[in-house]
Amino acid sequence: MQANMIRKVAESDPDQLITKTPVFVLFQRLFTYIWQHKLPLIAGLSTIVGLSFLQVLIPQITRYTIDVLIPQQKFHQLPWVGVAIIGIALLLGTLNYARSYTMALVGQKTIYTIRHVLYEHLQKLSLSYYENNRTGALMARVTQDVDSLQNLIISDVAEIVADTFAFFAVVSYLLYADWQLTCMVLATLPLMVYLTQLFGTRMRGAYRDVQRQGAEINNHLQETLSNIKVIKACANEGYEVDRFSERNRENMAANLRVVQLWSVFSPVIDLMNHLGLAIVMVYGSWEVIKHRLSIGELAAFVAYLNIINQPAKKFSRLLNVIQKAATACERIFATLDTEPEVMEKPEAIALPNITGNFCFENITFGYDSNEPVLKDFSLEIPAGTTLALVGSSGAGKSTIANLAARFYDPQTGRITVDGYDLRDVTLKSLRSQLGIVSQETLLLHGTIRENIAYGKPGVTEAEIVAAAQAAHAHEFILEFPQGYDTMIGERGVKLSGGQRQRLAIARALVKNPQFLILDEATSSLDTESEALIQDALKQLLHGRTSLVIAHRLSTIQTADKIVVLEKGAIAEIGNHTELLTNQGRYAYLQALMFKSSELPT
Ligand SMILES: Nc1ncnc2c1ncn2[C@@H]1O[C@H](COP(=O)(O)OP(=O)(O)OP(=O)(O)O)[C@@H](O)[C@H]1O
Ligand SMILES: [Mg+2]
Repeated sequence: MQANMIRKVAESDPDQLITKTPVFVLFQRLFTYIWQHKLPLIAGLSTIVGLSFLQVLIPQITRYTIDVLIPQQKFHQLPWVGVAIIGIALLLGTLNYARSYTMALVGQKTIYTIRHVLYEHLQKLSLSYYENNRTGALMARVTQDVDSLQNLIISDVAEIVADTFAFFAVVSYLLYADWQLTCMVLATLPLMVYLTQLFGTRMRGAYRDVQRQGAEINNHLQETLSNIKVIKACANEGYEVDRFSERNRENMAANLRVVQLWSVFSPVIDLMNHLGLAIVMVYGSWEVIKHRLSIGELAAFVAYLNIINQPAKKFSRLLNVIQKAATACERIFATLDTEPEVMEKPEAIALPNITGNFCFENITFGYDSNEPVLKDFSLEIPAGTTLALVGSSGAGKSTIANLAARFYDPQTGRITVDGYDLRDVTLKSLRSQLGIVSQETLLLHGTIRENIAYGKPGVTEAEIVAAAQAAHAHEFILEFPQGYDTMIGERGVKLSGGQRQRLAIARALVKNPQFLILDEATSSLDTESEALIQDALKQLLHGRTSLVIAHRLSTIQTADKIVVLEKGAIAEIGNHTELLTNQGRYAYLQALMFKSSELPT
């Protein structure tokens, strides 16, 4: 079953659905982020232009020395040759420093922006997105993928710009000096471009695999390390090591495929370069012998050949980075282009302070729209009352709670609070007035104080303590040596189940919400903590509108209204006594619950 689930998740992995967007289009979009830092960018590019210009100068000095100084024995000019070269070298060094720094600045700032935008967008995406994507893969996107952009922007884009610029400067000079020889040298260029493209497409495919395998490793790590208890309980350590080593091996294989491609490509490009050199030496020397070219010019030609071959040579290395960055861009932009399913309307208004009259009107909803969980469901929770939802597992109780908090939107029908459609108000204003204690207690790594305060930013110490007292958490908190500063571990693993529940209740209480959604956990507690939680709940429900998904007899009995839900539809509705006299589904469930509550724990 586990394997099935994993397969299903992998199938819905949007990474595999990515269409092949042209690199150009991807980078054009990336450039909009780079352009946000135009000042250092322009400064960096100017130093690059300066650098290219200086690079062109040195071979000219060589040519002058060979063709003029040596034959004409101009001894007095020799020291100036040394000074000029050293001067240019110093200038090159300074400009290189400026270039590295400004380009790194552009790169780092761009990466910062992209990472920020990406994380901000991830926070906006709906729960359904997280259900269909694995955490490890999403983490890889924000870390690994953004990092590969960093390489591209910081070192390589600057280099390619510099080299391209130098290329055009040099080629213009060469065409002027000897256009025939230049054309011969350039003849290798189309072949180079063709080869680059050929390898480029394959490389991109290979990089996509590398990234996918990297994300798989991340997924595996995230899932297994955070669920280590399940693995140990099932004694599946060996199984997980095997699964991991399989992923690890696939990752290695994917990387080796890239290396393989790259290892073929690099020597091919080198061969092209030497072909250029052969042409220059053979044809150039012939020209020199025929006195159509001077020795100095030939020497300059050889030096320039190196410069024009630089872009091609580096481009082959760059191809690596470019393809890697292109696949990263693809993923990042695909994430950024995903619209949250639960969207706030642009004209959404802030929900005024509610009294808490909740209405479900003819709701049809399914997590998958083809399989409705709720069918034409209608229900009203009058302000200030407690409504208990009971029903068998999978009936759709938590689903109703999810809809009330607008974690999902219904496919048809509407949900209103005090007459406002949930879709017409801002999510923030809605959720700030809701208190949610969910079925699985969700806590964050941090101190007890931080966890309670998480419900309401800016809450005072007195409010935290008051909430903890009302939730009957204060007593156990003070028993810890560090009290409210006790670290509770990831997801609160250092606390007992009952303690976690009471903290979650305190977190909901501190918000003092008008509408409360309480999805009681079914975990059985000992009688004492059961009584404590019961009392905490009573505090929580007092004077508010509440939707309680109840498993505890006492909570159900004191509710103003009880709804029995079966397969997404209301089977019975009424209060405790009414439903008992009905002798229907409720009476049956009650009898069952009563029986189990009498069992010794
Ligand atoms: N995130 C989800 N994605 C897809 N299907 C879901 C999701 N959550 C719940 N379901 C399905 O919706 C149906 C109703 O689930 P729901 O969680 O509302 O049940 P419940 O009444 O709260 O059950 P329980 O008493 O066990 O908590 C179930 O068939 C379940 O498989
Ligand atoms: Mg549930």
